[in-house]
Amino acid sequence: MSKVDVLLGLQWGDEGKGKVVDVLTPQYDVIARFQGGPNAGHTLEFEGIKHVLHIIPSGIFHKQKINVIGNGVLIEPRIFMQEVDALKEKGIEPTHNLYISKKAHLILPSHRMLDAANEQAKGNAKIGSTLKGIGPAYTDKIARTGIRVGDITQFDFREHYELLKVQHLQMAHTLNFDITSFRIDGMSLDEYEALWMQSLETLKQFKFINSEYFINRCLDEGKKVLAEGAQGSMLDIDFGSYPFVTSSSTITAGVCSGLGVAPSRIGRVMGITKAYCTRVGAGPFPTELFDETGAKLCQIGHEYGATTGRSRRCGWIDIPALRYACMLNGVTDLFVTKPDVMNDFEEVKMCTHYMIDGQPTDEIPFEFNSVEITPVLESFPGWKQELSKATKYDELPAQLLHYLYTIEKITGVNIMAVSISPDRKDVLFK
Ligand code: GDP
Ligand code: IMO
Ligand code: MG
Repeated sequence: MSKVDVLLGLQWGDEGKGKVVDVLTPQYDVIARFQGGPNAGHTLEFEGIKHVLHIIPSGIFHKQKINVIGNGVLIEPRIFMQEVDALKEKGIEPTHNLYISKKAHLILPSHRMLDAANEQAKGNAKIGSTLKGIGPAYTDKIARTGIRVGDITQFDFREHYELLKVQHLQMAHTLNFDITSFRIDGMSLDEYEALWMQSLETLKQFKFINSEYFINRCLDEGKKVLAEGAQGSMLDIDFGSYPFVTSSSTITAGVCSGLGVAPSRIGRVMGITKAYCTRVGAGPFPTELFDETGAKLCQIGHEYGATTGRSRRCGWIDIPALRYACMLNGVTDLFVTKPDVMNDFEEVKMCTHYMIDGQPTDEIPFEFNSVEITPVLESFPGWKQELSKATKYDELPAQLLHYLYTIEKITGVNIMAVSISPDRKDVLFK
């Protein structure tokens, strides 16, 4: 009997999960997403091709591997269809090796409208949502009013849909939202709805499964399953910087509820962190840099959202946040990405702890959003060279090895590999 290995982000998302899952896929039989939805943007690069996935797991480029969209994921049928079409244009036919849980919930066009209405109503306190309808769709799931993938083939689907839509329109009205001016991809709600309905036909071409049985049977048969996280631990609904979070459980616990596997069936937990830190959207970010170093990280790291194109806020690596994420997830192995972005830096800094009210602490306070946090930074000499010459982990520059060793020491978790470019081939396993 095998266990589910987990690969998830330890920061505020965009750590390079898509690339790493693609790199690890040859070692697995099944790749499964367990939470999130089209708010995610996972980038893969190989053979000169760059591809961004939102809902489809990042194992899809390996034809012989099964990819599963688990019950914890949200599906927006039109975005899903566009993703399928983009894959087909690149010669990938996902219909045969992508299975979808019947229990995954749908994002309706009116969920996307409500997302916009909620953000507008927040005024200056906006979360900076990707506006893909994530919050409202998970709200309906928890309120037991949502519609699931398995429902679209039921006779009363349209009735259920219309009832929910009416509720959403009433809610938007209450929020004084201008429904008639609202646009999705330049279309009115009604225009978009017509395309959304058509996209259900694409969805129906895929195999709908009870993914909890499928995954557990795979494990019984000794097959290897990798769970692919979306977002990051600091965006978790419970442990992130609430309310500046996403609406799902982004941590290892989310694998159990999002795929239907027992905690005893969780194996290795691989956590990804960038060698620095980014955040997109609003909310606290203690190590954020507002100077030219921050701008340099953004520019060299191409730190622009894969889903929204927004520029990402950049700063030094935040060890208190990383240690918190390692604790919450039970991380067994670390995967560090993007040190190459700092190749020409004279010095690289690491926030080892925070100063709050004149006291040092390495805990994330409850008042994370409101209290003034001063990051205490340790400086490391830069390595001032290209990393592409290294073909093995040990061949990385001594300064970088020292920086990585410090991360291991301070988190108590071993680094299993380092990624040194966006390309699939540039990963150095230790
Ligand atoms: P994800 O959401 O965690 O999958 O990450 P994103 O795809 O949103 O953002 C990561 C970005 O960094 C993408 O543009 C990747 O192509 C890129 N990337 C991943 N690993 C590396 C790396 O080691 N070095 C560099 N320079 N870029 C990387
Ligand atoms: P991947 O999987 C980075 C952020 C948004 C916003 C907050 C809530 O690519 O790492 P939502 O749309 O969920 O209501 O947005 O969460 N966010 C992400 N930031 N990477 C992501 O996904 C994100 N998904 C959501 O910017 O601050
Ligand atoms: Mg991303």
